[in-house]
Amino acid sequence: MQRLLPDPGPTDIDAELADYRPFDNPLDDRPYVAVNMVSTIDGRASLGGRTVDLGTDRDIELLLKLRRRFDAVMIGAGTMRAERYGRIIKDPDARARRERIGLPHDPLAVLVSGRLDLPFDAPLFTDGGGRVLIFTNQEGPFPETATPTRFETVQGPIRITEVLRHLRQERGIRALLSEGGPHVFGQIAAARAFDDLFLTTTSVMTGEPDEPRLLEGGLPEPMDLRLVRLLEEDGELFARYCLRR
Ligand SMILES: NC(=O)c1ccc[n+]([C@@H]2O[C@H](COP(=O)([O-])OP(=O)(O)OC[C@H]3O[C@@H](n4cnc5c(N)ncnc54)[C@H](OP(=O)(O)O)[C@@H]3O)[C@@H](O)[C@H]2O)c1
Repeated sequence: MQRLLPDPGPTDIDAELADYRPFDNPLDDRPYVAVNMVSTIDGRASLGGRTVDLGTDRDIELLLKLRRRFDAVMIGAGTMRAERYGRIIKDPDARARRERIGLPHDPLAVLVSGRLDLPFDAPLFTDGGGRVLIFTNQEGPFPETATPTRFETVQGPIRITEVLRHLRQERGIRALLSEGGPHVFGQIAAARAFDDLFLTTTSVMTGEPDEPRLLEGGLPEPMDLRLVRLLEEDGELFARYCLRR
């Protein structure tokens, strides 16, 4: 793997993330937020309805190693339905290393589902390890799950900024990684409620109009991001952008 920006030269994911400590920089009204996405050249966010065939093993490595640095991971309901998540950090050594740098053993998995249309038979809920918090418009009774799961019923529209405020102020979350799909990303971006965007661009074009775009829902105005890092391997590009303030 090559780093193209800054300081061109050979590198790897561990070296690139060594000094990345998002949990040191929470805001008052929300956690430090990073968004991780993968896209085709033509800006599509899935292939055959899923992301698993989009990125390479290196992209998965980046995602798994990013997860180790956050108090919470946000997943939209559409992503949960498509990807059927398991425990966020499966490797016990990685969980132990989190504790050594002052992070909770497991990240809190945060789901947003107005309709509460979630696959409660997916391993995230049946594994028993980790913790889940779901923001929904539905009232109880809620399904019983082996993994400890809390439900936050929201009256009226679920606003992503209110979710983030709740996570920061009521749950003490300092850093959140969004793995939500294009609709969750659209809401976070429209609210300018993120700090970093990790964007992997594959060397594939789908030309498939039914696959979701990278960002759905639109933005109130064009948004200018600053490219702070760019890596390359086998034609795949790994960019880190920061939101200009
Ligand atoms: N390329 C990538 O990096 C990437 C990343 C993640 C996912 N994906 C792909 O994206 C596709 C899914 O796209 P998506 O946009 O549907 O996923 P999403 O953004 O993860 O989920 C959207 C769903 O989440 C719930 N939701 C989100 N915000 C809400 C709010 N404010 N209030 C109430 N409910 C809210 C709704 O579910 P309810 O209907 O349950 O209310 C909504 O239908 C899948 O194919 C997945 O594989 C790609």
